[in-house]
Amino acid sequence: MNNTYIANNDQNTKDTLMSNKTYFIETYGCQMNVYDSELVATQLEKTGYKATKDIESASLIFLNTCAIREKAQETVHNRLNSLEYLKKRNPDLLIGVLGCMAQNLKDDLLLNKPYVDVILGPDSYRRIPEIIQNRVHSMDHLVDTKLSKFEIYDDLFPSRKDGVNAWISIMRGCDKFCTFCIVPFTRGRERSRPVDSIVTEAKKAVKNGFVEITLLGQNVNSYTTPNGDFSDLLEQVAKIEGIKRIRYTSPHPRDFDDKLLNVMSKYQNICNYIHLPLQAGSSTVLKRMNRTYNREEFINLVKKIRYYLPNCSISTDIIVGFPGETEDDFLETIEMVKINKFNSAYMFKYSSRPGTKAAEYENQIDEESKQERLERLIKTQSEITLLQNKKKIGSIEYVLIEKESKKSKNFWSGRTDGNTWTVIKKNNEKIKDVVPVLITDAKGVTLFGKSLNHKETIYEAN
Ligand code: SAH
Ligand code: SF4
Ligand code: F3S
Repeated sequence: MNNTYIANNDQNTKDTLMSNKTYFIETYGCQMNVYDSELVATQLEKTGYKATKDIESASLIFLNTCAIREKAQETVHNRLNSLEYLKKRNPDLLIGVLGCMAQNLKDDLLLNKPYVDVILGPDSYRRIPEIIQNRVHSMDHLVDTKLSKFEIYDDLFPSRKDGVNAWISIMRGCDKFCTFCIVPFTRGRERSRPVDSIVTEAKKAVKNGFVEITLLGQNVNSYTTPNGDFSDLLEQVAKIEGIKRIRYTSPHPRDFDDKLLNVMSKYQNICNYIHLPLQAGSSTVLKRMNRTYNREEFINLVKKIRYYLPNCSISTDIIVGFPGETEDDFLETIEMVKINKFNSAYMFKYSSRPGTKAAEYENQIDEESKQERLERLIKTQSEITLLQNKKKIGSIEYVLIEKESKKSKNFWSGRTDGNTWTVIKKNNEKIKDVVPVLITDAKGVTLFGKSLNHKETIYEAN
């Protein structure tokens, strides 16, 4: 099978517009991929494709993939296997693998999944119109997984579905090289997008009805441009009229400074919420992870955050079973979870990623021990989450109504400023309203409450 490496050209793709063509994009992985899928949608729409919700009838299917853990990759492999019959049924169907797995596994995909027509890494989406046109003239595989030092898709605006929150990517890539992590290899070097272009995109999102903005990057606080750092950017975005809420994810503990906390405390519309990935509780493990902070520094940072922002919710990411993690190291993680009292945590078993430094480390931990540690950690954190949520009972939280509750159409679901999902009985609120809610109960990771916008409820509350 021939692999065609596309030559850059300026052909007018409108020539090949096929207005009855439809696309279906399935997105895996982090919010960065969600954002990228929206950029890809813009590119496809430029060439005349229209979105469809029906994968069976789509003329083009793109999977935007993730390589962060082995399981994420397996999911995509399984999904691709399940799509082969669609290709058999319709040989004109175009199947593409985009994103982080494309970058990492192109040879494997070409060898084992010959029905995949297009493989594009995260820096190659600008070429989609051209690739689609080429496809019209050739049946070869199209592969472009080169990483760029410069691509920031500055002039492309994402095609967003209606919604409450708009994700805005402010930087791409990562230079931190934590020893467990594949991202620096799949996404390449760190690049920041100019302040002006981000502010323009945020204003556009507000104009299109979005009320919440989340600024995205692998290390948002290493954002740097001639016109300002991350705190300056955040301040600029906070000043945009009409934004009810601003969130960002993720900051790196190493780069967290007082200036950022000052900006956060100054603006009402910046949420009192920080996702601060810890990864491990033992300084020895943190060192081998190349996280560049130790246990004490992390504890002090959490204290400082709570000093500047007393009501700030903090969530985290934790990996268990990193190579060489002893039972004592693991107990230090459990202890850190108790000391820092995270409001919530994403917890993972270490997954060895070929090509990373930690994949070469000795003393890889067996699956059974990883599973057992994960379960103990989840148990500890769940108790803390519930305790933190129960503390909110009796208080008033401002909830941004986002959608109907999954359990009942008589209830709304929305998030508090501190990012906790909250369920309230429907009154006369609308989606996108921010309503004061009296918290009445906490179960699992969810809060329950009564809207204080409703007269009867105010009476009950008193
Ligand atoms: N840039 C962010 C993390 C992005 S990846 C940061 O620095 O914190 C999201 C999370 O996936 C990481 O925080 C980490 O907890 C987890 N992760 C990354 N690589 C992993 C691996 N090899 N095995 C298990 N979890 C991993
Ligand atoms: Fe991965 Fe570390 Fe970069 Fe986060 S900071 S993306 S964990 S290498
Ligand atoms: Fe996955 Fe790539 Fe995001 S590996 S977590 S989709 S940056």
